[in-house]
Amino acid sequence: MHTPTIGDSVDVLDTPSMVVDVSIMDQNIAKMMKRFEDTRKHVRPHLKTVKSPLLAQRLLNAGARGCCVAKVSEAEVMAAAGITDLLITTEIIGTVKIGRLIDLVMKYPTVKVVVDSIYGANELNLAMQQFAPGMKLQVLVEINVGQNRTGIAPGSEAVGLAKHVGGLKHLRLVGVQGYEGHLQHLAKDERVRLCRTAMEKLSATVQQIKDEGLTLDIVTTGGTGTCEICAEFDCVTEVQPGSFVFMDAAYRNAIGTTYGNALSILSTVISRPATDRAVIDAGLKSLSNDSGNAEPKAYSSMRYRPAGDEHGILEWHDLDLRLDIGTRLELIPSHIDTTVNLFDVYYGIRNGIIEAIWPVSARGKVQ
Ligand SMILES: Cc1ncc(COP(=O)(O)O)c(C=O)c1O
Repeated sequence: MHTPTIGDSVDVLDTPSMVVDVSIMDQNIAKMMKRFEDTRKHVRPHLKTVKSPLLAQRLLNAGARGCCVAKVSEAEVMAAAGITDLLITTEIIGTVKIGRLIDLVMKYPTVKVVVDSIYGANELNLAMQQFAPGMKLQVLVEINVGQNRTGIAPGSEAVGLAKHVGGLKHLRLVGVQGYEGHLQHLAKDERVRLCRTAMEKLSATVQQIKDEGLTLDIVTTGGTGTCEICAEFDCVTEVQPGSFVFMDAAYRNAIGTTYGNALSILSTVISRPATDRAVIDAGLKSLSNDSGNAEPKAYSSMRYRPAGDEHGILEWHDLDLRLDIGTRLELIPSHIDTTVNLFDVYYGIRNGIIEAIWPVSARGKVQ
């Protein structure tokens, strides 16, 4: 069997395979960077989407300033590959994970973390005191700006936590995070209105914290659907979008085509049980469906649905459509992050030729 190599035709790829239109991806990245070029805001892309140090480096080369990751295990992969200005955007709780974090921070002191509780802050402080007493861990207080996931309540509670962190010997308060994930897929008017409300909460709390004499170097927020709205606010220093690199069908259906669908799953028709139905070799193990079903790329009248782990069904009403057994076709995932996590590598394609092979090195890194 031939191992796919750079310079080969896309036709050598077995299916299902994850393929990236390099030109669309680069346009997406350039567009995001351009949007913030004339502002004083930085783009710190969230790597929970790409899960690849090589693509992280591409983002940094294009103008990103630092990166976000969701988990300590993702940070380990990125840092080992030289991506070291990292913000871990999920709270780190438990002695096992904190131990892992301390090992990482001792090697890469520019790794930053978020906290949303006095408990969490005290645990981090204690571990630093025990294992890295000569260092200070960089900490951002996470504020709940409306998502009602993690984050301490804005206002006095957040101010109290910021003061607490600021007073701990082994932590250094460097900023706040306020992420409005619940707004990313809303229709434009609603997204703008609610994002401004969220940012007003964030701004007011940032001011209250500063009024206490504390310094906040970083105020980080925003995803692909909201980052431009967040950037209207003076207090925001950086945005942390992730999905824009590849986009997905759910995002595109919600916010439009500013960023193009750059990634798809290449599959093969393996059975034609009826004139209006085909079976392909991509099911739940190749295309996540937590945000609905994937969409066939080149056939707008065709619908896809998973038919188990390994199979997918395509259905259509246009009886003239021929789709012979053996035909290869691409599907746009409904949710990019959970689909990327299913594959070992990306094949970067330009004009039908494999231009790059990027391992999804942080695949499965959920700890
Ligand atoms: C904390 C945080 N920041 C940023 C992002 C990136 O958002 P998006 O992929 O919508 O651009 C996410 C995505 O889940 C997130 O959880």
